[in-house]
Order: sequence, then C-alpha cells, then structure tokens
Amino acid sequence: MKWLHKDLLDVSQLSKSEVMAIFETAGRFQELQERPVKKVPTLKGRSVILFFAEPSTRTKTSFDVAGKRLSADTFSLAKSSSSLTKGESLKDTALTLQAMAPDAIVIRHWCSGAARFLADRLDCAVINAGDGRHAHPTQAILDSFTLHQEWGDIAGKTILILGDIAHSRVARSNVVMLNKLGAKVRLCAPRTLMPPAVKSWPVQAYSDLNEAVKGVDAVMCLRLQLERQKDGLLPDLREYARTFGLGQKHIDLANPDVRIMHPGPMNRGVEISSDLADSAGSLVLDQVSSGVVTRMALLFLYMTRKGEE
Ligand code: CP
Repeated sequence: MKWLHKDLLDVSQLSKSEVMAIFETAGRFQELQERPVKKVPTLKGRSVILFFAEPSTRTKTSFDVAGKRLSADTFSLAKSSSSLTKGESLKDTALTLQAMAPDAIVIRHWCSGAARFLADRLDCAVINAGDGRHAHPTQAILDSFTLHQEWGDIAGKTILILGDIAHSRVARSNVVMLNKLGAKVRLCAPRTLMPPAVKSWPVQAYSDLNEAVKGVDAVMCLRLQLERQKDGLLPDLREYARTFGLGQKHIDLANPDVRIMHPGPMNRGVEISSDLADSAGSLVLDQVSSGVVTRMALLFLYMTRKGEE
C-alpha cells in the first residue's frame, strides 16, 4: 500500500484498510523478534527524535527499540533535560528540532493538540505518542493488534473499557479504533470519571461494573490518572478499588476465555487485582510486545512514504 499520511495524530485519520496494512506490516516484523539478531537495515541513515515531555516507560522504550531494530538513529529529549524548563516555547523547541533534519519526531506532551501543533509546522513526520487527554493512537493500534493476534477478526466482539474514562487518551483512541474494526464497545466508570460527551460516543455507558462486565470478550482496565484529576472527583481510593477494581468475581460474569488488558502502568490492587494482572487470560505483556512491532510498522510506513496527503 502507498502510505499517504505525513503524520499520525489519531486513529480517526486511518481507514480500516490502512489499519490492516499496519497489522500486516507489524506481523512481518514479528518474525524478526524470534531471531537471535533482531536488526534489519530498512531505515539505515534515517533519524527519529523521541521528544517526551511527560514520563513514559513503554511508549518511549518501544519506539526506541523499534527504531534501532530498523537501524534508524534514535535521539531522546525529555522535558527535564530540555530548554522547555528554561521557558522555551513548544514552537521554538519544534523548529530547533526540525533544523536538525530528522525524518520523524515522536512526541508526548501534556497538552491536547500538541502533536497537531508540531505537525502543522514541521516537514518531517510527526507521530503522536499521547497528547493530554486527547489521543494515544499508537496505544490503540497496539491494543487492537494484540486482539487481532488472539482472535483474528475483532468484529462482533464486546469490549469493556473500565476506569478513569474522563482523563484517558487511551480510552478515546480505543473507542474510535474498536468501532472502526466492528467491535461493540462498553464503558464503565464512576459518574465523576465519565465525560459528559460520552452521550454522543458510539458506546454503551455503565456505572455498575457487575452489569457492564456481563458477557464481554475483553476488559481493558485503565489507570486512575490522579495527576490529571481535579480534587474531589474520588472521595476514597479504597472505595474506588472496591467498586471499580476488576477482580475474579467480575471475570466470572464475563465470557469464558475473556481477555484482560491494561495499557500500563498498572496500580495493582486499585484498578485491577494483582492475581488477574498475572493470570492466564492477561494480555498485559503481549501488549508490550505488540508495541514494539506495531511501532516498527509505523516508523517504516511514515518514514518511507512517497505519497502526498
Ligand atoms: N501505555 C503507556 O503509554 O505507557 P507509558 O506511559 O509507560 O508509555
């Protein structure tokens, strides 16, 4: 497939056939993970800047691993060690990075819209690694790739996204992606952590976990994003864990062979019980492995594109 997009800002930009092309490319890179030497020269001489203005373990490391396995040169810039701490604007930071002529910039930023801000000003590919509560497209791509590996077709499956929906860019991107692939999406959260706009989303919304989990094929747990919450949304963390923390009693209400997912980082004992996180149905570490191959696929497609948007 001729790749037309310069930037990846959210999964809403992608058609279903483009998502399938990403999966197919990631599938080809998966075979590479089994080899003793996991490196190919595909992106030799190309460079990627990883600009992470918020903390990250999985996304940053997997983009770094993905770039290096394709022989690209990867360079990391964190907020704490950048001139953002001296008051430099995002625009000046972006233009400075562009002057170093990278082929792609992967950006994570606390502001919704930061990735678009860069994409509108830079010639190189811009890949959104999470912007505020807006979008986390590469997480949604790796999540659906993980389910695609399990089931083949996701169409017709029922998937519950559970937890802090209001502050979650993962939930927003996954709602779009899972609908695109034909899944039925349920959301469950306390009323204070469910965004009012959910009324117009293509989902079924619940505030009772015992109802929400009945008959589902997969549960995606979300981290409580305490750093993004205003005071007073949750009176008591223990009460939240008791009412909305996923445990075995909920899994007993779901479909047999229900898959359990979490984008990480997990608060064990809060949004998910530790036993479930480590159980046979858990795909948490499969999601991490999928993150490497799907990000290899994305770097390959965005950095070798010849099309016009
Ligand atoms: N899922 C996710 O984005 O994890 P990190 O914050 O560790 O990158």
